[in-house]
Amino acid sequence: MEIFAILVCIFLFLSTLVISFPFIKKNKPTSKPKLPPGSMGWPYIGQTLQLYSQHPNIFFASKQKRYGEIFKTHILGCPCVMLASPEAARFVLVTHSHLFKPTYPKSKEKLIGSSALFFHQGDYHTRIRKLVQTSLSPESIKKLIPDIETQVISSLESWVSVRHVINAFCEMKKFSFNIGILSVFGNLENNYREQLKENYSIVEKGYNSFPTRIPGTAYSKALLARKRIHEIISEIICKKREQKLIEKVLLSHLLNYKDEKEEMLTDEEIADNVIGVLFAAQDTTASVLTWILKYLHDDQKLLEAVKAEQMSIYEANERGKIPLSWNQTRNMPITHRVILESLRMSSIISFTFREAVVDVVYKGYLIPKGWKVMPLFRNIHHNPEFYVNPQSFDPSRFEVSPKPYTFMPFGNGVHSCPGNELAKLNMLILIHHLVTKFRWEVEGYESGVEYSPFPIPMHGLPTRFLRD
Ligand code: HEM
Repeated sequence: MEIFAILVCIFLFLSTLVISFPFIKKNKPTSKPKLPPGSMGWPYIGQTLQLYSQHPNIFFASKQKRYGEIFKTHILGCPCVMLASPEAARFVLVTHSHLFKPTYPKSKEKLIGSSALFFHQGDYHTRIRKLVQTSLSPESIKKLIPDIETQVISSLESWVSVRHVINAFCEMKKFSFNIGILSVFGNLENNYREQLKENYSIVEKGYNSFPTRIPGTAYSKALLARKRIHEIISEIICKKREQKLIEKVLLSHLLNYKDEKEEMLTDEEIADNVIGVLFAAQDTTASVLTWILKYLHDDQKLLEAVKAEQMSIYEANERGKIPLSWNQTRNMPITHRVILESLRMSSIISFTFREAVVDVVYKGYLIPKGWKVMPLFRNIHHNPEFYVNPQSFDPSRFEVSPKPYTFMPFGNGVHSCPGNELAKLNMLILIHHLVTKFRWEVEGYESGVEYSPFPIPMHGLPTRFLRD
């Protein structure tokens, strides 16, 4: 009986080999990891036009529906793999971040400055990031509250005083730029601020234009303006060094830094990082603020709830005679949830870019060395698996914390946004003053989005501000 059993086993073993052999052979060439599914679109332009002509929800969601959570495409002149799951974002940005480096077009790197932290990784990135993080930590930014309040009040007063409809996004940009200046330089002389503002707007126009050095083009004008900004910052550095500045803002952290060999940062490194932080702070904060105006305007019941929350703080502060305290800004739960939901809904940074530094295999798919990798924050934020009824604006969903890696408006990992607390603080303070003393009407609004380059409400949300 035993011998019979052994013979049966040998027979079964041999028969599985015989049966499976042809499949093993057949499968051999395809067992190598293959590229993810997806379409590469037209030569060179790939699918760039579709990306920037469609609503971002439609472009990414339709691809995910067709191909799944990993798919390839070709945008902005580069082959890319897009990844739409929380695990994939974690893989690229956190657990395997050493396999992917930050990557930006050279033309854009030239306008910001190659020493800015977001172009780097490793030692240099860690050192600069520590300085930026310290200057934007809760400990540092709480000291900025009175200056932010002054800036908020002066912006609101100016919006009311014009009496006609204004482009809300443009105004939010001016406001965010001034706060950026405040967090980088502390109190800065007006003439420097104006010169920086003027040249910054020229750089911005060139940033999203075709990169050619032909004189007169937006890009070549931007390069010249970038040079002027560098000169202005060098002059400010010189002055601040003479004054032995004591304000604990980013510029002073950069100026006072010495590495283990007692070496300081060069003026070039300081200027590039100052320009980089100003750049990272402005359009992002302004876009989200514009969406907040729209979402609150569209939901009057919610606006009333936010107003009630802010009015009780306003009354406690003797109708604005006492300035807001840090603790008060930490205790605005409804307003805070409105901000989180606005960040999720608008997902102004729909994705980020990295570049594979070696061939990487993820979930059986090959990401070839040199290809771009794009974790798709927007898809994750709009996935019904993580957010019930994702297209409806519902701040109450944030009464429960989102699952890990399903909420990444500020990215994640070593390059995540060091300005996130400052951005939220600006929004809280602006909403506080806006709803307690003013009201606003959105006029001639057309639904839809435009790109600035981040998605913003159509025509920058034409708005009229009025005193309440
Ligand atoms: C609502 C406003 C903001 C949003 C949505 C936002 C979003 C982001 C995201 C998603 C990243 C990561 C990009 C990546 O991984 O490739 C990032 C990086 C960065 N952000 Fe923000 N940001 C905002 C405001 C700010 C502000 C106010 C500042 C500074 C004052 C700032 C400074 C930076 C810097 C310096 C980096 C690069 C960090 C690094 O490479 O280590 N951001 N931001």
